[in-house]
Amino acid sequence: MFESWESLKDNCMKCKKCRLCETRTNVVFGEGNPNSKIMFIGEGPGENEDLQGRPFVGRSGKLLDKMLNAVDLYRETNIYIANIVKCRPPQNRDPSIEEQECCIDWLRNQTLLIKPKIIVCLGRIAAMKIINPDIKITKEHGIFFEKNGIIMMPTLHPAALLRNPSQKPGAFEDFLKLRDKIKELQIM
Ligand code: URA
Repeated sequence: MFESWESLKDNCMKCKKCRLCETRTNVVFGEGNPNSKIMFIGEGPGENEDLQGRPFVGRSGKLLDKMLNAVDLYRETNIYIANIVKCRPPQNRDPSIEEQECCIDWLRNQTLLIKPKIIVCLGRIAAMKIINPDIKITKEHGIFFEKNGIIMMPTLHPAALLRNPSQKPGAFEDFLKLRDKIKELQIM
């Protein structure tokens, strides 16, 4: 456990705990305000994220930003965005369970330092790892769970929404529920 954000980041940026380090261009540590109360967790970097070293900067990132901004959330100010794995899995395959296990302590440490009140899991992989390995994202998105004193909500991955635009309205409802929850808890 690293006590400071800087030492955590410095060490994570040099990580060689799994073989994804061999093919990465950049470690994607995360982005946003580490003092915010709301954290978004995705699956892992894609090609654009790997090249830029920033999470959600490709097409799905643009869609994510649109939905975030519509409910007054901005990565520059009031949220933090990270991923289950910090390095891109080749060909954008799902990160293996072993890769997730190797990487998860970085995210745990980030979470311990940020102390979020709400965690939003973007997509099945994050929801299974963070909330419940048996979660059914298509049925359970938009539901609030509580675990270790943190409120958690799964929502559909923006990449899934790009593949399947008919799911966009349902996913946007999740963001509206999130906005209501933030109001209810008075955390912003
Ligand atoms: N998809 C993710 O899950 N995370 C990113 O950072 C980009 C795309």
